[in-house]
Amino acid sequence: MTILDLFQLDGRIALVTGAARGLGREIARALAEAGAHVVLHGRTIASATPAVEALRADGLAASAVAFDANDAAALEAAMDRVLDAHGRIDILVNNVGERDRRKAGQITADDFDRLVRVDLGAAYRLVRRVMPGMIERGHGRIVSVTSIVDQLATSGSPSYTAAKGGLAALTRALAAELGPHGVTCNAVAPGFFATETNAAMATGDAGAARARRVPLGRWGKPAEIAGAVLLMASPAGAYINGHTIVVDGGVSATYEMYR
Ligand SMILES: NC(=O)c1ccc[n+]([C@@H]2O[C@H](COP(=O)([O-])OP(=O)(O)OC[C@H]3O[C@@H](n4cnc5c(N)ncnc54)[C@H](OP(=O)(O)O)[C@@H]3O)[C@@H](O)[C@H]2O)c1
Repeated sequence: MTILDLFQLDGRIALVTGAARGLGREIARALAEAGAHVVLHGRTIASATPAVEALRADGLAASAVAFDANDAAALEAAMDRVLDAHGRIDILVNNVGERDRRKAGQITADDFDRLVRVDLGAAYRLVRRVMPGMIERGHGRIVSVTSIVDQLATSGSPSYTAAKGGLAALTRALAAELGPHGVTCNAVAPGFFATETNAAMATGDAGAARARRVPLGRWGKPAEIAGAVLLMASPAGAYINGHTIVVDGGVSATYEMYR
C-alpha cells in the first residue's frame, strides 16, 4: 500500500450535486478517475447528460439524476431512485449553489428563504437520506462546497453569505454527530474560480482587478478544486473531520494588492 493507493475510490458510489458544469463537473470527473461510480446531479437529466457522457467516453462509471434543489418533493423522489438503483451512497458532495449578489435592501425575505433552501436546506435533506446507510456501514464521506464568504463578507450577497456560513457550521455539527460512526464531514471553500457562471466577472478590467488581489495572480481553474475534494473523499483524508479546506490562491490569507 502506497500513499497513492489511499486516493483510490474503487467500489465507492458518489453523488455530486450541480455536476452538469463548473466546479461540480470537475469534482465528478476527479472522483470517477479515482475509481468511483459517480452519480451526477443536474437540474434536468438533459443538462447532466453531456457531463455523464464525457466521463463514459473516457471509460469512467457515471450516471445522471435530476431534481430542482428548491423542490423538496422532487429531491426526495430522486433520492429514492438513486438509492434503489445503487443501494447506497458512500460519498456525498453538496456542490449546488445559487448566488444572489444584490444588497439586503433589494433581497426580499422570500428571496432569502429560497436561496437558503437551495444552498443549505437541500444539502441537509441529502445528508438525511445518505446518513442512515453510512452509519450502518460505519463509513461515509460528506464534502460540502462553501465559499470564502463563509468567513469574509462583501457588501451584497447577504443570503448567499448566510447560507454558506450555515453550510460550514452544519459541517462542524455533522462532524461531531457522525464522526463516532466513521463518517467524516468536511468542506471546501473556493475563492475566485473562472467557471462559466463567472465568465463575465473573470474577464476584462474587473477580472484583472480581482486577479491582482490573489497572491497567485490569477483566477482558479475549475479543475483546481478537485484535489481538495478527492483528499477529503478518500482514505487519504480519513482523519480530516469537521474542517474546511480553503482553495483560493491565498486571497483570504492576505490583504495586499499584487502587481
Ligand atoms: N466559481 C466560484 O468562483 C465559486 C466561489 C465560491 C463558491 N462557489 C460555489 O461552488 C459551487 C459551484 O460553483 P460554480 O461556479 O461551479 O457554479 P455554477 O457553474 O453556477 O454551477 C452550479 C450548479 O448548481 C446547479 N444548480 C443551481 N441551482 C440549482 C437548483 N435550484 N436545482 C438544481 N441545480 C441547481 C446549476 O445548475 P444549472 O446549470 O441548471 O443552473 C449548476 O450546475 C457553488 O455552490 C458555488 O456557490 C463557487
